Amino acid sequence: MSTPELVPGLAGVPAAESSVSFIDGTQGILAYRGHRIEVLAEKSTFEETTWLLWNGVLPTRAQLDAFKQELQPYYALAPELVAALKALPRKGHPMEALQAMVAMLGMVSPACDLKDEASRHDASLRVLAAVPVLVACFERLRRGEELVEPDPSLSIAANFLWCMNGVKPSAIEERILDCALVLHAEHTMNASTFACRVVASTETGAYTAVSGAVGTLYGPLHGGANERVLKQLEEIGGPENAKAWFDAKVAAKAKVMGLGHRVYKTKDPRAHSLQNLARELFESHGSTPLYDTALEIERLAADTFGSRGIWPNVDFFSGIVYQKLGIPTDVFTPIFAIARTAGWLAHWREQMGDNKLFRPGQIYTGVHDAEWKDLDDRG
Ligand code: CMC
Repeated sequence: MSTPELVPGLAGVPAAESSVSFIDGTQGILAYRGHRIEVLAEKSTFEETTWLLWNGVLPTRAQLDAFKQELQPYYALAPELVAALKALPRKGHPMEALQAMVAMLGMVSPACDLKDEASRHDASLRVLAAVPVLVACFERLRRGEELVEPDPSLSIAANFLWCMNGVKPSAIEERILDCALVLHAEHTMNASTFACRVVASTETGAYTAVSGAVGTLYGPLHGGANERVLKQLEEIGGPENAKAWFDAKVAAKAKVMGLGHRVYKTKDPRAHSLQNLARELFESHGSTPLYDTALEIERLAADTFGSRGIWPNVDFFSGIVYQKLGIPTDVFTPIFAIARTAGWLAHWREQMGDNKLFRPGQIYTGVHDAEWKDLDDRG
């Protein structure tokens, strides 16, 4: 029997058929249900984009209004969740807190009938509405502040900022966060979406599937890179230090965070949109030296890595934007999770529509027919 060829990291191996999103990594194209990301970033909202991802087409005004109304009652956290949030260790990472709390959300929510579309929709709404509030409340408790009641009249983006800061965000702050959520909402079969579909395929339900996806997103090679990018820019200290820092990284063959992507071999289209957002924010709130440092790193990287297809990814500019919005560094990845919950749930629904348990093969590299020795006879 011939040994199947191993593809490390399953790079490029199709794991499912999906109509949720599309990427052309060479041309730098990302589209959700056929709609280009640049257009969605400019014209859509996170709620509308989520409807699109879940239903395959843009909503009518009446459908969008009804969707927002369906979400509103689920902003409020069950008392058991509030008690659990208060008991969580404050020193833990917010992504660890979120993973635990999403699993617990399933424990306090009605059991989901996976065969019933209405039941699947209800579970999806509960997760989408609760995730931002869970992130905001954990942050507030870490700061030693009282929790703020969610405001159902606000959008998901504005309610998140309200619950975290206890202050209603300005129109531009809401719009910028909302746009960042649209940009991060979905991205084909990345590691966390794959994890979500694998867990979903065992027919365990939305809460455990999303909880598994949150854990997967946490890693520095995936969603965790945005934190590292900001630390990196702070470490460089200014554009005048960028060249020496960059040359040392290249000489050491070390990775520069925020550059490179498994599928994009040109600049990530989301990085273009985030850069536009950053500029808009700096015009209204004043610039930051970190942005100038990032631009200098981008210029140096284009010369050194451009021919190898290593260009800025979505995380290159997101941290700078979030920092300017007053969001703590370790809440950047949870914001990615708030956004990606929309995409994970679109994939969860798609997986449930035609489920097949994931059970890949392996190439065995161990020994055969190993000799058994009793404990006292082993050297
Ligand atoms: N800086 C320097 N060299 C790099 C980088 C980088 N950021 N990314 C890739 N390379 C080099 C790497 O050193 C390797 O070189 P060599 O062939 O000489 O050993 C080659 O390119 C291939 O690297 P790889 O890691 O095997 O390639 P990949 O396709 O698995 O890379 C990646 C994808 C995202 C893991 C990688 O580019 C990386 O680690 N980037 C930094 C972390 C980062 O910014 N992650 C955020 C990804 S976007 C957000 C998301 O969608 O989750």
